[in-house]
Amino acid sequence: MNINSKDLIAAAESARLASYSPYSNFAVGAALLCADGTVYKGCNIENASFTPTCCAERVAIFKAVSEGRKDFVAIAVVGGKVGESERGACYPCGVCRQVLAEFCAPETPVFLGSSNGDVLTTSVGELLPYTFKLKVEEND
Ligand code: THU
Repeated sequence: MNINSKDLIAAAESARLASYSPYSNFAVGAALLCADGTVYKGCNIENASFTPTCCAERVAIFKAVSEGRKDFVAIAVVGGKVGESERGACYPCGVCRQVLAEFCAPETPVFLGSSNGDVLTTSVGELLPYTFKLKVEEND
């Protein structure tokens, strides 16, 4: 399948517009691509009690998995301070890396967009090598 990183980053940018981040003022958007072209979008959703905050990546993954989808082929993430026009790559946090590793093959591309149009391409396995797995036979 031909994966267009620019289109997926554009979807992440549109997801970012829905970010609810009044406490950090750091807005993140994610777009998760399925094998048939379906895109699940997510934004970070914060809470006054802080701990319930959920990152954009996990919102996208949980939306998709709760709809019965697990056939993920790529994810794009964008993020940065609200109101600041210049944004560099926003790397997924450690918790989101673990969740990505649960559902995505290590070679699954992760596209990180910047405001200048640069795309940093990495992968789920590169972001989280030596992943914790419960089943020994799942380890490389
Ligand atoms: N955030 C994400 O949405 N994804 C990440 O991978 C890193 C952090 C959010 C959580 C919180 O709402 C804000 O960014 C600041 O940490």
